[in-house]
Amino acid sequence: MTILILGGAGRTGARIHRRLSTTGVPTRLASRRTGFDWDQPDTWSDAVHGTTAAYVCFTPDLAFPGVPEKMRDLGQLAAAANLERLVLLSGRGEEGARMSESALREGGVPTTVLRCSWFQQNFSEHFLTGPVRRGFLHLPAPDVPEAFVDLDDVADAAVQALTCTIPEDATYELSGPELLTFAQTAAILTDACKRQVTYLSVDVPTFVADLAQDGVPADEAEPLAHLFTEILDGRNASLTAGVENILGRPASSFSAYARATAMSGVWS
Ligand SMILES: NC(=O)c1ccc[n+]([C@@H]2O[C@H](COP(=O)([O-])OP(=O)(O)OC[C@H]3O[C@@H](n4cnc5c(N)ncnc54)[C@H](OP(=O)(O)O)[C@@H]3O)[C@@H](O)[C@H]2O)c1
Repeated sequence: MTILILGGAGRTGARIHRRLSTTGVPTRLASRRTGFDWDQPDTWSDAVHGTTAAYVCFTPDLAFPGVPEKMRDLGQLAAAANLERLVLLSGRGEEGARMSESALREGGVPTTVLRCSWFQQNFSEHFLTGPVRRGFLHLPAPDVPEAFVDLDDVADAAVQALTCTIPEDATYELSGPELLTFAQTAAILTDACKRQVTYLSVDVPTFVADLAQDGVPADEAEPLAHLFTEILDGRNASLTAGVENILGRPASSFSAYARATAMSGVWS
């Protein structure tokens, strides 16, 4: 048994790899640094063949145009290579992601889909790290409630799905335990960091310019902004029982994440 982790060096992939390695499950990590490239389908076969199951994490985003076609091809390849199970990381309320989920399933390999709320770690391991350090969360979104989920919960759930302890061919919605607006997350971050963090709703060019300060290129920031404009309209303002159903324990809170992350020094 070998589990393939696509995006294995990334935020979710690395967490899943650590968990599987600790329990002695053999893994194969795949990303550009190992020769696997989503933009070069001829690099996929070497990664997939000889594995029994795969964690599928598409970068930059499963909801972007052109991704369903890639998911369809990957699903067919996984079926031809006799994979027994796929676990797909997806997002809540995203029409483009729905199309990618269906396309991957067309190959017929039993697939568990994990549809996640906004990651808490967007504030410390992704595009909001710099804004928190600068004290201003500039977002192209109204102050809607979101059910921020902890990536450690997502990784724990993915490991359960990859090691066959939950039903295959199911779709789970994973959220945190509470709904928070961005202004409320800013207040929690202010408390955790012991200095002011303020949320401001801004237009797309301001958001793109803010992210450029941290080296995020416009061709990544702009589609991200348009995705937020689409999904941050309140459609995901509900809690789900996905984490509790899979893990048998409550989801981790944003406050606990903020306190632990502030102590790590990443926002200092
Ligand atoms: N952020 C959120 O709040 C949120 C919420 C719900 C769902 N999601 C979904 O989460 C997914 C991202 O997950 P993540 O944060 O764990 O991933 P990630 O950390 O952004 O990226 C994982 C890895 O992908 C690799 N990669 C980048 N471009 C690649 C390419 N062209 N071909 C092959 N590998 C490539 C990179 O490694 P190399 O440099 O070695 O290639 C990177 O380490 C997206 O599909 C998104 O839709 C995100």
